[in-house]
Amino acid sequence: MSMTITKLHDHVGAEIGNIDLTRPLEAATFATIENAFYENSVLVFRSQDLLPEAHIAFSRRFGPLEVHILHQYQLANHPEILLLSNKTDVEGNPIGLVEAGRYWHTDVSFTEAPSMGSFLFAVEIPPEGGDTLFASQFAAYDALTEDWKTRLDGLKARHGLNKTTAPKFTDAQLALVKGVDHPLIRTHPKTGRKALYAGVFVDKILGVSAAESDDILAFLRQHWAKEEFVYRHQWQIGDLVMWDNRSILHHATPFDAQHIRHMHRTTVEGERPV
Ligand code: SIN
Repeated sequence: MSMTITKLHDHVGAEIGNIDLTRPLEAATFATIENAFYENSVLVFRSQDLLPEAHIAFSRRFGPLEVHILHQYQLANHPEILLLSNKTDVEGNPIGLVEAGRYWHTDVSFTEAPSMGSFLFAVEIPPEGGDTLFASQFAAYDALTEDWKTRLDGLKARHGLNKTTAPKFTDAQLALVKGVDHPLIRTHPKTGRKALYAGVFVDKILGVSAAESDDILAFLRQHWAKEEFVYRHQWQIGDLVMWDNRSILHHATPFDAQHIRHMHRTTVEGERPV
């Protein structure tokens, strides 16, 4: 059977069926997946039996992989894989990031060249909750009034980290993260489409008064994840979900901490937003 592509939402997400990511992909198949990724921003692959090597190999087809600065949460012998997990070691210490990303964000936007894409694989999931929400920032941009498009055009935002957005970071790790400025409207390097580029890591809007910065941020926070822009992913074991950080904000949702949620994440290097 040949590979299938099924849209999951008007603006964001498609499921790729009849594919086994543990096998090397032919160039034409890979090109179709890549195009579906740029078109839909989020791709879902169900029922994958993905060992770390295959997860890394598939992610690497999209570019060099990053190693997250939270070294304590890397998978043993596979530093490219960050554990998002509430499992603990024999001494009761968390082995992964617990409660990662429970706010609207795009991965590591506080860096000069934030990750292009993230690839999250479900190893263990709770019976309920722990969904991930994905908001299309192409749709969020397209839905702006002409007045707002004009007001935001050319503005830059300062992205940073603090103890609220990164409670697990040590002071030394936080000190490594200097604030960085990115355009508020970014142009996707592959498709040329415009997207809002903001999220919870934005501290302020540059080149305007503090009051105007607050006003713009208040507007953006109630706009960037309107229901009509959002696809909710309900995880099954064996799902690999990849998303385009250049056109997506995402948000992890809570679950009953008596249950285990154990995920493997890789990230592909990105470019400086323009
Ligand atoms: C993240 O990468 O921000 C976490 C997403 C999730 O765990 O659902």
